[in-house]
Amino acid sequence: MKVLIATDKPFAKVAVDGIREEVETAGFELALLEKYTEKQQLLDAVVDAEAIIIRSDIIDAEVIAAAKNLKIVVRAGAGYDNVDLEAATAAGVCVMNTPGQNSNAVAELVFGLLVFAVRNFYNGSSGIELKDKKLGIHAYGNVGRNVARIAKGFGMKLYAYDAFCSDELIQSEGVTPVSSVEKLYETCDVVSVHIPATSETKKSINAALVNRMPKGAIIVNTARKEVINEAELVQLMETRTDIKYMTDILPDNHAEMTEKCAGRYFSTPKKMGAQTAEANINAGIAAASQIVDFINNGNQRFRVNK
Ligand code: 3PG
Repeated sequence: MKVLIATDKPFAKVAVDGIREEVETAGFELALLEKYTEKQQLLDAVVDAEAIIIRSDIIDAEVIAAAKNLKIVVRAGAGYDNVDLEAATAAGVCVMNTPGQNSNAVAELVFGLLVFAVRNFYNGSSGIELKDKKLGIHAYGNVGRNVARIAKGFGMKLYAYDAFCSDELIQSEGVTPVSSVEKLYETCDVVSVHIPATSETKKSINAALVNRMPKGAIIVNTARKEVINEAELVQLMETRTDIKYMTDILPDNHAEMTEKCAGRYFSTPKKMGAQTAEANINAGIAAASQIVDFINNGNQRFRVNK
């Protein structure tokens, strides 16, 4: 029984050690493919794997077809838009994620980006404070809830919109639920984006929506670039010179954004929200133990494909 860790962006060593212990204690074998540069390396590595642990690595129909012995893929993290679920289902492969395991790390980065934004990219000029500003949490899942918890420490006023989460739950955490996404953007000085990339959400954060935000608005995106209409956003930011865009996912139009929105746009070079030892340990070991429990006991609790 071979478990492959296939991570273009490697886990911290301590997390790999923890995964190894989990896998070897179960009597399974661990293989490691990190920092691969060609898809062929992934195709070669999956050939004899029965289980694969991935991060944002692309598991498409070709990879699934190459992995003849594959039984399970676990995305060590939240978003599984990088896995072809239909191809997996057709091949009888179980796909899981590890919800919540890396969410604090992502939420902390939101505030790293926000303080950087309101202090004018640390250029020494006089900035503003987060205290008393209205923060809109766009989707109140695991990351959104951690953002709310941290934002309370900053003294921000909290609002959230989530189509799938009850107003009661949002309210019970001291956050004001709003009835529509438009209302969230209209109300809030800062919006933190936490929606997954799906056919419904792709490009849904467009110029019309962002233009509803008050003067001095900041959007912070630690979710997915696909949910932003990047072409419209850069156009809007040319006229709305008060808006800032802070992102952890390099936009397709990064060069244009950098040129046209200097001082108001920042992107990390490679998504690093979940790139902490703690998040790697939590998500990586959860992935390994989910694999062991699936293989040994058939537990499918975190399955995301039908
Ligand atoms: C997730 O969906 O869990 C986050 O976006 C983290 O992705 P990563 O594992 O590629 O850093």
